[in-house]
Amino acid sequence: RRRPSRKGSMADVPDDLLEQIRYLEKIFTVDGAKLKEVTTQFVKELEKGKSVEGGSIPMNPTWVMGFPDGYETGTFLALDMGGTNLRVCEIELLEEKGEFDIIQSKYRMPEELKTGTSEELWEYIADCIQQFIEYHHEIANLEVMDKIPLGFTFSFPATQTYIDNGVLQRWTKGFDISGVEGKDVAPLFEAAIQKRKLPIRLSALINDTTGTLIASAYTDDTMKIGCIFGTGCNAAYMEDCGSVPKIASYNLPPDMPIAINCEYGAFDNEHYVLPRTPYDIVIDEDSPRPGQQAFEKMIAGLYLGELFRLVLVDLHDNKACKVFPGQDITKLRKAYSLDSSFLSAIELDPFENLSETEDHFHRELGITTTKPERELIRRLAELIGTRAARLSACGVAAICTKKNITTCHVGADGSVFNKYPHFKARGAVALREILDWEDGVPDPISILAAEDGSGVGAALIAALTIKRVKAGNL
Ligand code: GLC
Repeated sequence: RRRPSRKGSMADVPDDLLEQIRYLEKIFTVDGAKLKEVTTQFVKELEKGKSVEGGSIPMNPTWVMGFPDGYETGTFLALDMGGTNLRVCEIELLEEKGEFDIIQSKYRMPEELKTGTSEELWEYIADCIQQFIEYHHEIANLEVMDKIPLGFTFSFPATQTYIDNGVLQRWTKGFDISGVEGKDVAPLFEAAIQKRKLPIRLSALINDTTGTLIASAYTDDTMKIGCIFGTGCNAAYMEDCGSVPKIASYNLPPDMPIAINCEYGAFDNEHYVLPRTPYDIVIDEDSPRPGQQAFEKMIAGLYLGELFRLVLVDLHDNKACKVFPGQDITKLRKAYSLDSSFLSAIELDPFENLSETEDHFHRELGITTTKPERELIRRLAELIGTRAARLSACGVAAICTKKNITTCHVGADGSVFNKYPHFKARGAVALREILDWEDGVPDPISILAAEDGSGVGAALIAALTIKRVKAGNL
């Protein structure tokens, strides 16, 4: 289906509604100058995060000490606990450079689990792994199996003293499971595994961004940064040990590489620079962790639908020019009832009269929309999606600026990056504006779809760790 030109589509929007659209444009638009200001502050915060005193961006050392050479081999399990699903994979790294086989199963992460108890979480995870092994190995007695090394992608901020442990700093992405913050998650996980006598050895606890960085570099050695633009947003890159003051006490060789999981979703928790709207403030205040993850709450997939919903409810309730006047908007009032795929569908509506948007509102929310209301809805989705993509570019630009990287590939993964319409193109335009590339020159830094970080990346990191331990290093 060709998308007809929607030029002049605002022509039939009445003045009072148009005024609302202009107001939304004003508060949600981030121009090039602001992007640069955000990036400058970002660079400072990245630096501060590496210091002994620390800052709001955690800059967590991951104990991943270098890139794979492509010749790692062996069979590994990978467990991926992200934001939305739980995935178990078995990966075989093959003799041929950069080659691998993978089998995997996905399990739904029940919503109740995200705000339940620690025990429920680990039991559920262990059940999924057990199911996976029983299904794929067809062995009646798991106790006779050799232990398989496992890379656990735990995509939350964790303090690690070595690669096989990690104390959860705080839950992010709407998780609020009691009794885990401040604890090492490795023994909690291992206890549930041992209870079932599963043939597994936890070899590495990793972040999804670190996995993405390593998996991408495995097949493309110009990959210097691994990013996630999904339920949450974050990035990892390689530092030299000598440039990370907070690990000075380990006396590591100064030029030894170490991957840093930035956890930059926490950028600007102090609210110095990000152009927050009243709706961003509501998202933060109503979240389980107010004051945390300021940057992430403006751009990540978990929050895009919620921002959109909050604006529409506000326009219905509080503005002189109402949307959906006189209608029952009970369904729209339910927090987090719209996810970013709802916005994607609106942005992709190919019809001049936005009839797919009309159908969505009717079917999913029981709301009838007028054509001018749909113009506002479409513009709002575009504004929220564009702001997310443009601000996302600041994190990548900040790492490149800080590390003097002028040309590289950035490996990216996550539902927003892979599925949200125009996200990649909007992000690329923003990067160009921030880094002042000349017109017509091909992008020296490009953000590309990454290799599977939480599967292959986790396996590679487990392999690298085992190799290092065998060699007697660290
Ligand atoms: C959140 C988590 C972080 C993760 C990101 C993407 O920001 O804190 O660990 O990398 O989401 O999943």
